[in-house]
Amino acid sequence: MAYFSVEHLNISFGGLRAVNDISFSVEKNEIFSIIGPNGSGKTTIFNLISGIYRPDQGAIMMEGENMVGRTPDRIARKGIARTFQNIELFANATVMDNLMLARHIHMRTSVFGGAFMFGKRSRAAREEVVHREKVEKIIDFLELQSVRDQFVGGLAYGKRKLVELGRALALEPKVMLLDEPSAGMNNEEKDDLTIWIKDIREDFQVTILLIEHDMNMIMGISDRVFAMNQGQRIVLGKPGEVQGHPEVIKAYLGEEAIS
Ligand SMILES: Nc1ncnc2c1ncn2[C@@H]1O[C@H](COP(=O)(O)OP(=O)(O)O)[C@@H](O)[C@H]1O
Ligand SMILES: [Mg+2]
Repeated sequence: MAYFSVEHLNISFGGLRAVNDISFSVEKNEIFSIIGPNGSGKTTIFNLISGIYRPDQGAIMMEGENMVGRTPDRIARKGIARTFQNIELFANATVMDNLMLARHIHMRTSVFGGAFMFGKRSRAAREEVVHREKVEKIIDFLELQSVRDQFVGGLAYGKRKLVELGRALALEPKVMLLDEPSAGMNNEEKDDLTIWIKDIREDFQVTILLIEHDMNMIMGISDRVFAMNQGQRIVLGKPGEVQGHPEVIKAYLGEEAIS
């Protein structure tokens, strides 16, 4: 049994088959990348996996359970967390608060209800301490200390992308879906991000599905690469096999050079 897999996924919007019979399976602790020109259906696959869209057909299997038909909330609870191509954070809250909120929403701790009922060592208060420790660990890990008390809305784009990564990590996921995490980052930030993604896999034992346009990053980080175009699979293989594949090169012609 595969750790995580999608099987014969299909979804159409009007007449457009955005995801056309897509299947792949991902090993535990793998870094599995999805590439393809703009509009090829990559983000839609993430929207299907995270339960934002429901497939017309197909299965999404996590540890032997089908996620199809579950709410995004229940899918997150199963351990599948994501970041968004367009950042979705609370702009008027601090970095720290964004990460704490992620934990509270996810864990549904009764910090608001429970805290009133018991003394200062109540269950809720103890849980709050645990939440804070976990969030501190993530802030340290992503080197966000210097901006921890700043409003997210005021941060540079690259930093906000990192906070989004932190927010997803705060959910203590088993599987992380990262949608173009390096977009808008400079080269130094991209290098840091590459190291962090590898560290997330090692230190947090997270399996990573990555949508990325930066070919250097894809080649340096991925165990396997799934290339698609117009909703369909082109090829799945090791980074080197996929990069030089004629169909992949053809798909990118007229879009952007693949380096
Ligand atoms: N909610 C939607 N309604 C209509 N069309 C959509 C919707 N979501 C995605 N699409 C279409 O599906 C195709 C794939 O989009 P997307 O998955 O965002 O591509 P990618 O992430 O690979 O750039 C595009 O043609 C897009 O316009
Ligand atoms: Mg996309």
